[in-house]
Amino acid sequence: MSFDFKVKDLSLHEAGRHQLRLAEHEMPGLMSLREEYGASQPLKGAKIAGSLHMTVQTAVLIETLTALGAQVRWASCNIYSTQDEAAAAVVVGPHGTPEDPQGVPVFAWKGETLPEYWDCTNQILTWPGGDGPNMILDDGGDATMLVHKGVEWEAAGQVPAASDEDSEEFAVFKELVRGTLAEDPQKWTRIAAQIKGVTEETTTGVHRLYELAQSGELLFPAINVNDSVTKSKFDNKYGCRHSLIDGINRATDVLIGGKVAVVCGYGDVGKGCAESLAGQGARVIVTEIDPICALQAAMEGFQVAKLESVIGEADIFVTTTGNFDIITAEHMQQMKNKAIVGNIGHFDNEIDMAGLAKVPGITKTEIKPQVHEWTFADGRSIIVLSEGRLLNLGNATGHPSFVMSNSFANQTIAQIELFTKQGDYDKQVYVLPKHLDEKVARLHLDALGVELTELTKAQAEYIGVDVAGPYKPEHYRY
Ligand code: NAI
Repeated sequence: MSFDFKVKDLSLHEAGRHQLRLAEHEMPGLMSLREEYGASQPLKGAKIAGSLHMTVQTAVLIETLTALGAQVRWASCNIYSTQDEAAAAVVVGPHGTPEDPQGVPVFAWKGETLPEYWDCTNQILTWPGGDGPNMILDDGGDATMLVHKGVEWEAAGQVPAASDEDSEEFAVFKELVRGTLAEDPQKWTRIAAQIKGVTEETTTGVHRLYELAQSGELLFPAINVNDSVTKSKFDNKYGCRHSLIDGINRATDVLIGGKVAVVCGYGDVGKGCAESLAGQGARVIVTEIDPICALQAAMEGFQVAKLESVIGEADIFVTTTGNFDIITAEHMQQMKNKAIVGNIGHFDNEIDMAGLAKVPGITKTEIKPQVHEWTFADGRSIIVLSEGRLLNLGNATGHPSFVMSNSFANQTIAQIELFTKQGDYDKQVYVLPKHLDEKVARLHLDALGVELTELTKAQAEYIGVDVAGPYKPEHYRY
């Protein structure tokens, strides 16, 4: 079998395969879906373009999708988040060799440039023979955006000219689309027409999808995987509770106990981050714009303040908002000497890195990859992690397997749902029904030795539910 792919080094495949084997043990949700659906092959005929951090856990997801019959092409959704050994293992496959890879085409390596990043995203949407995928599995919405902007600019007859307002990333993106249209003027309408749906992993990508649906521009149905309870209330919270401090520790090895840490945003990710920093003995301060989340933080015992009020006080700053311009260049100039600054939200615009680079007299020193000291003209400096991109994947290896098993079981079920029940979904954004959310949770109980109480029929009637669930109304918030 021969296929195109681009990863760092196939000789890493064995190290990757060992990690995958251990991850499989920690991913009971995915493994039981393989058992449940392996024979019936519900994804046979599915051609999935996946844009999601190419980690060990994602490798187990990819091999679950192929075990259910899908063909897959994969890229990472961040330039720093690939684990090269996992990418190599997926390409080589469980039965291949580096000389004769038998796995899945992956286009991802740690430390891509922006043009390389967008080229990889283009690769997963460009299948052999000029064909495209019929499903997208997205994280942050970049693959979905490429198809939508491609169609929009194709219809307009041109890609808009570069503007001073464009971020570096958007300028590179425009260049990529311009190139694809020069080569194949109808590429994106042809590809969009084949796509039956997208399943989206994260808050930021979901936000983009609802905007597209509201303006009537969404080109195919979408399932919002993020808002399955077993995704956002687990991955975003408990995943970040684990991987935030993993990233800070691997990057800096600074003792967190006793330090003052500011967490910007107290949504699901912020809650996990604040808890993990407090768990290490840091004094945590939260910033919020939403009175409900601010009150929640106060109830947990965290000081809630404006960033400006505490900017000179803190040792560690973490942005978790999914919003932009949270920490500005001006803020960074007022921080303590050697303050650590990092972002765990999806995009790098939470911290104004472009503004920081323009501060007069500033210099940048690489301490090690993804750890940079920015020194101001007066000699004080700050440490910025992963160039402002998500630090838990840039400085560490992202969330651990068990929590990702929940997220990815939702992804797999959502792919089956959209691929096999195409007539049931309009060009809107849907969440998975609650019985499937409960199913994902159920798949993870045995591994933790959880003993679940069963309702009696009378009890079920008394609270107005079925003995087999769902157990909560749609409006219940957990
Ligand atoms: P969320 O919507 O639950 O929380 C974001 C919070 O930030 C909200 O409570 C909002 O009120 C607050 N906020 C917005 N603007 C603010 C401002 N200017 N100052 C202070 N607070 C502000 O979203 P969630 O699920 O917590 O996700 C946050 C980001 O993290 C998203 O970009 C998401 O895609 C990303 N994410 C990253 C993960 C990772 O592994 N690094 C995992 C899961 C999500």
